[in-house]
Amino acid sequence: MLQGKTIVLGVTGSIAAYKIASLASMLIKQHADVHVIMTKNATNFIHPTAFETLTNHKCLVDTFDRNFQFHVAHVNLAAQADLMMIAPASANVIGKLANGIADDMLTTTAMACKAPMLIAPAMNTNMYENPVLQDNLEKLRSYGKEIIEPASGMLACRDVGKGKMPEPEVLLQYILRTAAREKDLAGKKILVTAGPTQEAIDPVRYITNHSTGKMGYAIAQEAMLRGAEVTLITGPCALEPPMFVDVCPVVSAQDMYEAVVSRQQESDVIIMTAAVADYRPSTVSDEKIKKADGSLSIPLTRTTDILKTLGERKRTGQFLCGFSMETQNMLENSRSKLAKKNLDMIVANNLKVAGAGFGTDTNVVTLITPDSEKELPLMSKQEVAGRILDEIKMR
Ligand code: CTP
Repeated sequence: MLQGKTIVLGVTGSIAAYKIASLASMLIKQHADVHVIMTKNATNFIHPTAFETLTNHKCLVDTFDRNFQFHVAHVNLAAQADLMMIAPASANVIGKLANGIADDMLTTTAMACKAPMLIAPAMNTNMYENPVLQDNLEKLRSYGKEIIEPASGMLACRDVGKGKMPEPEVLLQYILRTAAREKDLAGKKILVTAGPTQEAIDPVRYITNHSTGKMGYAIAQEAMLRGAEVTLITGPCALEPPMFVDVCPVVSAQDMYEAVVSRQQESDVIIMTAAVADYRPSTVSDEKIKKADGSLSIPLTRTTDILKTLGERKRTGQFLCGFSMETQNMLENSRSKLAKKNLDMIVANNLKVAGAGFGTDTNVVTLITPDSEKELPLMSKQEVAGRILDEIKMR
């Protein structure tokens, strides 16, 4: 996701410094060009060679090192950066950044850098709560720097409280949000539904389906990366929801109906990927379903068609997209759903095609609108998500 992007990591003297080796490695796996600058204190916690091995670049520490490829290395790197992250950021370096002190390679580069800057403070709780530090953070925010809230937990000094650097996986998500995509969906409110629904038969059992939620989660993440304000209404899934998305967990079709309908008017785009159960048990009770011969008889009632309701209430300018899972006559059945539910687009899946449908990381879909039809080749669900959003953006 970071192909062609230059990420500069500034590492300061805190025990969390060693975790930045994992972050550097994750960024390399995302195809970023990673450069690391350390303060001298940071080298007490992790050796520059670790970063040099991972990034294939000289790890910069001292401004007066004569061994540079460019003699204005700090300015050069600052100009190349698509993003600079300072993590862990010590109270000392935060103080310098907030007050214009540039006395080493890291602070000099930061001073010269116009790219977005993310700062992850990491320190003892009392230091973090010190009003001087808080004022410095406020000042940095006012200069447009993003401050990543430290996590709470047991700190290196054995105190328990706020001050821990978030895990590298979390820092990676911050970097992706800032640098991975153009913000071409900024200002759009996008509502996505995902996963199956569960319909209780009795207090123990339920009816559900094979949906894993992967497609909907991929759309929610991709829309968030492209700058949209995203709400994800999700049935029970085993997936980690994407960060920076407003997640609303639901269980039954009725729960999903209420959650979606109550947010319809505020949404610019609604994408229903959820495999909503078409039927639910009419009553939730042990006695009614057990027959005298021991067999089960479950009277079923149709659930409300959420998408059809949305289609009936669609406001001007709102874009409504549904999904259809078909085993035969895919195009014909999907087209009829598009018309019946008053949709702007339907994403048709043929469950019989290899690589499509439930549980896989790939999908094969056709994007159908009232006046067009685009058959996409086999691609990852993340890529499909991107293509769906491209199509919506064009309309
Ligand atoms: N859908 C919905 N509410 C339901 C059932 C389906 O909102 N109670 C939505 C799904 O999220 C999907 C679209 O309708 O986006 C099409 O779902 P699908 O199950 O393929 O179509 P149905 O209209 O339920 O028709 P059928 O199951 O008979 O094919």
